[in-house]
Amino acid sequence: MAGDNVIKKIIEVRDLKHNFGDLQAVDNISFEVYDGEIFSFLGPNGAGKSTTINILITLLKLQEGIATIAGNNVQRDPAAIRKSIGIVFQNEVLDRDLTVWEILEFHGRIYQIPKNERKEIIEELLNVVDLEQKRDTRIKYLSGGMKRRLEIARGLMTRPKVLFLDEPTVGLDPQTRLKIWDYIRDINDSGTTIFLTTHYMDEADHLSDRIGIIDKGKIITIDSPDQLKNSLGRDVIYVNTSDNEKAKPLLEKITSIYDISESVKGIALLTAMDGTMVMPSILDVIKEGGLEIISINLKKPTMDDVFVHYTGKEIRNEPTDKVHPRPGHHGRR
Ligand SMILES: Nc1ncnc2c1ncn2[C@@H]1O[C@H](COP(=O)(O)OP(=O)(O)O)[C@@H](O)[C@H]1O
Ligand SMILES: [Mg+2]
Repeated sequence: MAGDNVIKKIIEVRDLKHNFGDLQAVDNISFEVYDGEIFSFLGPNGAGKSTTINILITLLKLQEGIATIAGNNVQRDPAAIRKSIGIVFQNEVLDRDLTVWEILEFHGRIYQIPKNERKEIIEELLNVVDLEQKRDTRIKYLSGGMKRRLEIARGLMTRPKVLFLDEPTVGLDPQTRLKIWDYIRDINDSGTTIFLTTHYMDEADHLSDRIGIIDKGKIITIDSPDQLKNSLGRDVIYVNTSDNEKAKPLLEKITSIYDISESVKGIALLTAMDGTMVMPSILDVIKEGGLEIISINLKKPTMDDVFVHYTGKEIRNEPTDKVHPRPGHHGRR
């Protein structure tokens, strides 16, 4: 986004709601994505990330609210929407017996890309995702990372204005994740707006221009990773004492602590100044109150702390995904 004077909105979502029976999966969310940025939804499993994406890409019928992409209304003009976007899903199923080239070729035909152009685009994209050597390899012989890269290439075939990536690195090893991040950045550098979802703190932190933290169908806050971390002040200190309930009012008396909250990691203290300067006062008030310190931990705020601060809990990266059948494909793939 560097150098852009006028910030253009490419996605606009207003008062979006979505229910599955009694369950409010998306609970009245509003946000925008700016042209050229990498925007992430960061939230735990079941937060409503995929549901929101599926509405935007017209796989799920919009129930309530307004959503537009590049000026096209999701409800009124699904065909125009589909032309302007590319999609990479969580848990994509690729036909195991086709080759890398065939997968892309087939996709290009579905989208009626003329033959010559098709060949050119495929060559170019294989280069982007480093799969030139694998062009004639069948899918069943590719590693997980290669498959994900192929999906990214496929998502880019239509030269979309916006690329949607739903948990692009879930289940991949750390090295492959870093590579995928590089590809995502490269694609973004070439002008494609990226909207991704993730439950990985580091992924959101490293990739995003802006992050929307989403939990239980609601957007809790939206800002740049730096702003989010800076909003937590200078340092964060987690304290566990022999009685946290009694400790809290004691800690509240320390003036250089400007926010105290309960979290899974203990009492979270946000400090307005260097946390090491505040430590002695913490030890003093706890001792004077007749309590004991069980653990105390000082650190610079990370995205993890941001999440704990805004939601009161941690995202545990367990593979607890309840897999739901994907809504109808509308004959798209
Ligand atoms: N097709 C469906 N039928 C019923 N419930 C669903 C369906 N899809 C998602 N849900 C529920 O909606 C909530 C949000 O799910 P989802 O958008 O997939 O979350 P996320 O992608 O953030 O993990 C969850 O509680 C999930 O169980
Ligand atoms: Mg999901």
